[in-house]
Amino acid sequence: MSAYVILKHLHMTTAYLTVILLALRLLLDVAGKPNWRQTPLRWIPHANDTILLLAAISLLFVTPWMPFVHGWLTVKILLLVGYVVAGVFALKQTKSVPVRTVAALLALVQVMAIFHLAMAKPF
Ligand code: HEM
Repeated sequence: MSAYVILKHLHMTTAYLTVILLALRLLLDVAGKPNWRQTPLRWIPHANDTILLLAAISLLFVTPWMPFVHGWLTVKILLLVGYVVAGVFALKQTKSVPVRTVAALLALVQVMAIFHLAMAKPF
């Protein structure tokens, strides 16, 4: 199997996992079970997101895609920053429920836009 195929599968698998793991933590908070913060669920998403980003950066070396050259990738990276910031706010216990709800929605909308851009590469 080529490096490209391995990296792309790794990138896509961890991409799906980042959404599942965010949704799981949000749902546990909504269900009144914030104790996931004392379980491996505290660090597993960080490990997954590190692999996601390492695979993403590696893909840049084995594909012709380049940020600031291909618009979809540039916008994708900007949305990634928004996704991370919104995700942090959504999971912060010290923030109010309305702030966390809006942040959670923003995080989910942005990650869906990232998936759309990655799959359609529209510009
Ligand atoms: C939360 C963050 C991210 C998610 C959810 C995500 C998701 C995806 C998905 C699902 C694909 C495969 C699309 C397909 O062909 O069906 C993909 C492709 C790709 N991603 Fe990401 N990605 C993320 C972040 C990044 C970042 C930060 C970079 C660059 C620094 C990047 C670079 C790439 C490249 C170059 C491809 C194209 C591979 C190809 O089709 O040949 N991704 N991404």
